[in-house]
Amino acid sequence: MKFVKDLHVDSIDFLREDYILLRLVDPDQALPPMLPGQFVQIAIDDSSTTFLRRPISINDVDVEKHSIVLLIHMVGDGTKSLGKLRKGQTLNCIYPLGNGFTVPPISEGKKKLLLIGGGVGTAPMLLYGRQLFEAGHEPVFLLGGRSQRDLLELDRFSAFGRVFTTTEDSTMGETGFVTHHSIWKKEQFDSVAACGPKPMMQAVAKLAREYDTPCFVSLENLMACGIGACLCCIEKTVKGNVCVCTEGPVFNTNQLTWE
Ligand SMILES: Cc1cc2nc3c(=O)[nH]c(=O)nc-3n(C[C@H](O)[C@H](O)[C@H](O)COP(=O)(O)OP(=O)(O)OC[C@H]3O[C@@H](n4cnc5c(N)ncnc54)[C@H](O)[C@@H]3O)c2cc1C
Ligand code: FES
Repeated sequence: MKFVKDLHVDSIDFLREDYILLRLVDPDQALPPMLPGQFVQIAIDDSSTTFLRRPISINDVDVEKHSIVLLIHMVGDGTKSLGKLRKGQTLNCIYPLGNGFTVPPISEGKKKLLLIGGGVGTAPMLLYGRQLFEAGHEPVFLLGGRSQRDLLELDRFSAFGRVFTTTEDSTMGETGFVTHHSIWKKEQFDSVAACGPKPMMQAVAKLAREYDTPCFVSLENLMACGIGACLCCIEKTVKGNVCVCTEGPVFNTNQLTWE
């Protein structure tokens, strides 16, 4: 079930000058169940350039406080105006949208999953890690950035599993891209999940295939409606063209025609 509601801004924290953590609450009722990888379509008022809603992944959920946390990289008019919000203001949101990553039933055995995030693509991995950990599985995080300052929320990730990092400038963790990290050679995983820039996800998918490990990615194709009406988010798959906003954003990479 999807909701269209005015959520209240509860807090807004700057993690860096261009990254915010935005906490939205529903003052009336409990939030519906939300899967990691699902997203919110946010209406942004007061700007002629932002008449289309902006899709933002669900970074975390606090069931008791009825709140959703969003990690936002302020890149353009829409996301920058979210950075100017104040506590108590409202944002009209459609949620939860898309399919989401799977949390396997623990009755099928404890699974060890490698969750990979690049840049703001780390956002859905926190909720995925939380839900896997709370279900009794072992999430392991591999987060990559150009530099140490690009690696966000590390304390929050480490509450749910081991955290490994890579940076291109050697300021933190191992040097290079996430696909260069030594964990690939040292450990085995039941599956891999990734979200970030498309070249990163493609490289992860290729490596996972070499290790014969199932791989799931969350695509961030440009979106307008977010509900399957405008066809602007099409991705080519082995079953033909599909809307990422409704059939995704999470796909098994064996369904994609990337190579
Ligand atoms: C399913 C989904 C989940 C997302 N989750 C998050 C999230 O958790 N946090 C977050 O900060 N952003 C997320 N994004 C990206 C976010 O929607 C865009 O950054 C945002 O719409 C840009 O709006 P804007 O008005 O600030 O910038 P615009 O003025 O619209 O664009 C500014 C620049 O960003 C580029 N851009 C716009 N959208 C995207 C995109 N989807 N991917 C790459 N580049 C883009 C534009 O081409 C332009 O160069 C997600 C996108 C999708 C599709
Ligand atoms: S964003 Fe409109 S169909 Fe997907």
